[in-house]
Amino acid sequence: MKIRVPATSANLGPGFDSCGIALSSYLTVEVIGEDTKWTIDHELGDEIAHDEQNLLVQTAKKVSPTLRPYHLKMTSTIPIARGLGSSSSVIVAGIELASRLENLNLTERQKIEIATAIEGHPDNCTPAICGDFVVGSYYFNQKKPTVHYVKHYFPECRVIAYIPNAQVLTKESRNVLPETLSFAEAVKASSIANVMIAAILNGDLVLAGQMMEQDRWHEAYREKFVPHLATIRQIVKRNNGYAAFLSGAGPTVLILTNEEKADLITFELEQMAGSAQIEQLSLDREGV
Ligand code: HSE
Repeated sequence: MKIRVPATSANLGPGFDSCGIALSSYLTVEVIGEDTKWTIDHELGDEIAHDEQNLLVQTAKKVSPTLRPYHLKMTSTIPIARGLGSSSSVIVAGIELASRLENLNLTERQKIEIATAIEGHPDNCTPAICGDFVVGSYYFNQKKPTVHYVKHYFPECRVIAYIPNAQVLTKESRNVLPETLSFAEAVKASSIANVMIAAILNGDLVLAGQMMEQDRWHEAYREKFVPHLATIRQIVKRNNGYAAFLSGAGPTVLILTNEEKADLITFELEQMAGSAQIEQLSLDREGV
């Protein structure tokens, strides 16, 4: 059995903790067989556990506490702690693993509810599960956790990821956010997000791109993690790309452009990249 989960980019600028897209970089988990203890073969670095402490196993056991141990193999092209949904991909893989090994036949909604409760927001895990573009909300209604989500086709485009050679932990990047925003500021921020989503649904990436660069929820507070964002935006603007925005909690910057401009923008980004990695990706339409 093999499970494949896509990378994701959350927020798309103003869709903070709500919007996300799935991308063509993948975590794969292969079941080698049953074992006397959990063993995970991988070459993803020392900080990722090879035993039952691994987030994948922890998540699978949350779904099914009586799950027997297995020998697994894990590979991934999703860079860790760069804002491309690496943790989310592991959580979604853990839920999928438990569902398949135990024949639970979890529905899409059940998987989303479990993953969102673990993560605290649906913007990475929903596109990882459904693929494509997802808008979601998560809140407590009379103490009951409530998830709503809508999956929609994201207009065809080219995606370029500018991935700095430095990790940013989501917790660290959330700690710099303000506790409150004024009512007037929140109205502006949500109107920008609303227009962005409507433009995506209309297939209008020019307007959506303008909105993606007008976020008022988080990007300004996270500037220190992305000193390169302003320069990247100049390159994208000069070449008529759609937008550049912080991917999730950063430090990756995602660039959306049409087919025609993708190679030129990639070339110019490579000139400024230093130790950063530039990857051309596409949208993943399927999810896990
Ligand atoms: N919406 C989240 C954030 C995504 O920006 O903090 C990262 O988990």
